[in-house]
Amino acid sequence: MHKVELAEDGSSLSLSLRGSGTLRFHAIWLRDNAMDAETRSAENGQKLIALRDLPEEISIGSAKIAEDTLEVKFQPEDKTVNFSIDWLVRHSYDGKERKPDGWISGGIETWDCGLQDAVPTASLPEVQNDRVALRNWLCGVAQYGFGKLVNGPVEDQALMKVVDLFGYVRETNYGRHFEVRTEVNPSNLAFTGLGLQAHTDNPYRDPVPTIQVLYCLKSTAAGGENMVVDGFRAAQRLRDENQVWFDVLSKYCACFEYSGEKGVVLRSRRPMIELSPDGELTAVRFNNRSAAAITDVPYESMATYYQAYRRLGEIIDDESMEVTFRLDPGECFLVDNTRVLHARKSYSGSGTRWLQGCYADKDGLYSTLASLEASPLAAAE
Ligand code: FE2
Repeated sequence: MHKVELAEDGSSLSLSLRGSGTLRFHAIWLRDNAMDAETRSAENGQKLIALRDLPEEISIGSAKIAEDTLEVKFQPEDKTVNFSIDWLVRHSYDGKERKPDGWISGGIETWDCGLQDAVPTASLPEVQNDRVALRNWLCGVAQYGFGKLVNGPVEDQALMKVVDLFGYVRETNYGRHFEVRTEVNPSNLAFTGLGLQAHTDNPYRDPVPTIQVLYCLKSTAAGGENMVVDGFRAAQRLRDENQVWFDVLSKYCACFEYSGEKGVVLRSRRPMIELSPDGELTAVRFNNRSAAAITDVPYESMATYYQAYRRLGEIIDDESMEVTFRLDPGECFLVDNTRVLHARKSYSGSGTRWLQGCYADKDGLYSTLASLEASPLAAAE
């Protein structure tokens, strides 16, 4: 049998659960999270009151347990609210300890070249027509931060069909989409044949585009494979090698800028390794082409900062970190641009390569995935 005990002043209660310890809850937290029809809309789940509508000196007058429900009477409102004990357990905040900086949220799996043969891949026509297939592919994208689609049409703007799977295009000064055309011939091979260092796109935007899609329409040049690196794994590796270097890149902001066209001056000031206030690794920004002068690192720490920056780049360049794949016409890949870096490998022959790219937002992708996961069709599989 569960047991409940009130603090003497009624400011909190303590729930002793059969076989699974004790959880404490504050009166104000419980009242704020009441699920009754006056507090929260039964239709859309949105809250109908503001905190200012609740008494500051709120207390629990009484509390009792009936089967799997906790019944709480709040004073001075004299209001009784029922809570599902299962819900309280799932939302408890008591006893949580701070994890080491750089922890990664559940559901995310970091990777290196070992993922080469297990890239989340699906057929575009299939995920367009089969919700379970779409759910499975999006689940892989959420887990690994990137995915590939094959069997798509070879036509202008086909990449919009990819974005339509989960959300909306994010238009920028580069347009709704941008062209990536490369002519490789013997006279300019030395130039265009160069590979690009793996990077995240557009770190000078605030917020950065969180999804990037690159769709292949033509590919006749040998080489020029696409390559991706897990920025979260790179950051973890840096932390494991040298905590001070990890700290300096997460504690101080770098600066990024793009002003390559008339009327555009995009600037941002954000760390290369971004953590939430409780230390969760939330984003990586790495792009040497758009790096501006770093001015937010104290003089005493700048030399260390540059050592850390150099080492992070070396880890990113390490071949054991990369997954490579070739895109044929009608194929594309998508990356979480806050996590996975991308690049193009060098060419070894002449020809043409034509890709179209666009940006989108990952909240839409996660929303579509969560909705599919909650749907009876997906659950029935
Ligand atoms: Fe890029």
